[in-house]
Amino acid sequence: MPTNAKKSPRQKSTRAPRAPQGPSVPAWHVPPDRTKAWKSLTKLAKRAKGFDMRALFGRDPKRGAALSAEALGMHLDYSKNLVDREVMGALFALAAECGVARRAKAMFAGEHINTTEDRAVLHAALRAPKGTKIKVDGRDVVPDVHEVLGRMAKFAESVRSGAWRGHTGKRIRAVVNIGIGGSDLGPVMAYEALKDFTQRDISCRYVSNIDGEDFYEKTRDLDPEETLFVVSSKTFTTIETMTNAQTARAWTLAKLKDPKAVARHFVAVSTNAAEVSKFGIDTANMFGFWDWVGGRYSMDSAIGLSTMIALGPAGFGELLAGFRDMDEHFLKAPPRKNLPYLLALIGVWNRDFLGCETVAVLPYCQYLHRLSAYFQQLEMESNGKRVQLDGTPCRWQTSPVIWGEPGTNGQHAFYQMIHQGTSPVPCDFIAFAQPLHEIGSPATGMHHDILLANLFAQGEALAFGKTPAEVRAEGTPEWLVPHRTFPGNRPSNTLLCEKLSPRMLGRIIALYEHKVFVQGTIWRVNSFDQWGVELGKVLAKRIIPELSGPKPKPAHDSSTNALIAKYRAWRGR
Ligand code: F6P
Repeated sequence: MPTNAKKSPRQKSTRAPRAPQGPSVPAWHVPPDRTKAWKSLTKLAKRAKGFDMRALFGRDPKRGAALSAEALGMHLDYSKNLVDREVMGALFALAAECGVARRAKAMFAGEHINTTEDRAVLHAALRAPKGTKIKVDGRDVVPDVHEVLGRMAKFAESVRSGAWRGHTGKRIRAVVNIGIGGSDLGPVMAYEALKDFTQRDISCRYVSNIDGEDFYEKTRDLDPEETLFVVSSKTFTTIETMTNAQTARAWTLAKLKDPKAVARHFVAVSTNAAEVSKFGIDTANMFGFWDWVGGRYSMDSAIGLSTMIALGPAGFGELLAGFRDMDEHFLKAPPRKNLPYLLALIGVWNRDFLGCETVAVLPYCQYLHRLSAYFQQLEMESNGKRVQLDGTPCRWQTSPVIWGEPGTNGQHAFYQMIHQGTSPVPCDFIAFAQPLHEIGSPATGMHHDILLANLFAQGEALAFGKTPAEVRAEGTPEWLVPHRTFPGNRPSNTLLCEKLSPRMLGRIIALYEHKVFVQGTIWRVNSFDQWGVELGKVLAKRIIPELSGPKPKPAHDSSTNALIAKYRAWRGR
């Protein structure tokens, strides 16, 4: 059972126990390769091998506009992909045949679409406005969501205003979120992305790694009297978080001495009240969420407490409003104008029909420097699956590897491979038309113009390349021509947004959440479980005692035994 498979006592399912053979998959949710559209796409893919971006654009002078869509201050240009209108038509047909719209309705209606854990998937309820009714197993969860949001707001305000004092009466100047995976990546990404909107006299830090150096570096210059720890863990059993939380407690008490200090310096975010109080945190200082929120879909739940302290309740409300904008767009816009559908379908085409194994997420915005790490968990933990909902193997590819770094830094590091390497890497370029700070001068150049010029140039270079004839025409000696040739025909999307703000960030994140949903539905996998993380956790638990204490009998394979022995020897054990 995954660590976050435990049920919160408040959320006991009222449904009948499951049949031993497991839940059935609805007849309308067909495997993609059984659809007519998949067959057409397979044929079209053969033709697409001969697609040439220069020819595609040459034949259709309006292609740039035709293969673009705009909504909510976001402009998505997907014209620089190896698609034509026929391919796009078949991709839309694929989404329809795979029942994407129907499954989206089921998700928003609180059906247990997370079948392996028998849970609803309702991160959309986290941003539902007051008064909306969303039922999970017969209970309207929207009032619960707003009750927690209200408590979070009160607490966040008291920390921001200084009304909440540490044990010795000092103001809180540092908030340290302790969490990992979904209980870390979203909050740290949002804090970094929205730093310009934060109250700067309180700094937020994020400790996630079990490596003690993480805790050491993040706290070495902090004063325990002015530090508040937010222990964030859906299950409150994750070894990294629990170990770091114990260390934080010892660090706090080493200076403050009095165990009563814990109540002023620790709050918890979890679904597991029993474990929170076992740890010694008063459940009055606990902010809850529910088992129908997956870890990687939780940054807009109480897991965002540090985000709310940083932004204030109004800023956090704006973030939620952005998520909500995209939820509505996803449910209402026709697939041809629907940003999550478009991103997802282009992704399926690149992955399953053109054989691309990775996707680079390349924000041209330094504030978004943790975005690709966040998307890595969102996409790879969700859709990195090899069996279908019914347990049979997938006969198609699922999640690509997601990676990336902000531009223009990446240009001076790994773009060489993207332009001229042997494996095509589809790119998602993400940028904002307006900077938060207009820096530079007409004489030296405006930073933002130079930044965006670079982004546009990269998309252009990837798509159209540089032919040997063009290289020769520059007077290049013949032997150098192959080295200076750019093959082109390398796919990219450009997501150009108006301006970074909490609301815009919410829209971007929800866009990718729903993209993942559309792809997971087409690939017919459960995007909401993560059984693949379990084996390593179990083995680590077995190995921990073997690294210290009496010399263990060799119990593993020859490689693992030797590594354990080497480690012990170098630690003098
Ligand atoms: O091990 C993977 C995982 O369960 C993620 O899915 C989750 O986001 C992370 O660990 C942290 O879990 P928790 O919030 O329960 O500590």
